[in-house]
Amino acid sequence: MAHPVTVLISGGGSNLQALIDRQAGSSYEIVQVISNVSGVGGLARAAAAGIPTRVIEHRAFASRALFDAALGQALAESGAELVCLAGFMRILGPELVQAWSGRMLNIHPALLPSFKGLHTHERALAAGVRVHGCTVHVVRPALDDGPVVVQGVVPVLPGDDPAMLAARVLEVEHQAYPLALDLVASGRARVGDATVELAPDQPGLVVHPALAGARWAIAGAPPVS
Ligand code: GRF
Repeated sequence: MAHPVTVLISGGGSNLQALIDRQAGSSYEIVQVISNVSGVGGLARAAAAGIPTRVIEHRAFASRALFDAALGQALAESGAELVCLAGFMRILGPELVQAWSGRMLNIHPALLPSFKGLHTHERALAAGVRVHGCTVHVVRPALDDGPVVVQGVVPVLPGDDPAMLAARVLEVEHQAYPLALDLVASGRARVGDATVELAPDQPGLVVHPALAGARWAIAGAPPVS
């Protein structure tokens, strides 16, 4: 049975598109897309797929609490069992997050718990890390916090700039989010207090081809026997 999902967006919606593209035969069905910004590309993607859309502009509300209340009501009305934040650029208050505890996912463009917050690719380059990636996690009240469902890893390559690295991370994002949502919706991923327990033989990991092909060659040394 496919479990109803509502997706929250604020922008172009390439992750939403990935969720739409992988919906057939999965354990989830996107029943509504809600944006806090009107006219964004993600709304057109949803409409093209025949998914009902709704715009709830945060600017129209006098306080964060009032916006959260309206959003909470819309989520309840949508009939969703699960909520996915996909490039949704508003911080939700603890009350709304608690109401969806264990049933709300987010995708963050870094390997959490590293690089929470904004400008993750710039900061990864500045830190000189060799691997970077994305994390689909269960939403908790603290920003970019919560149990990891799936991570996607990419290499950081010589000569990378933030845009090049972002594009490579986005490739694994588009694999990781549908995988994570399907794992949670199907019950093959069980959300615990601190971690998500995966069913046996579910790796919960997406590896970019540029990293998968490199193996030991990058270090230049054979494995220790
Ligand atoms: C993605 O990088 C996502 O990880 C971050 O915002 C971006 C949204 O991209 N939270 P899109 O709207 O899904 O194309």
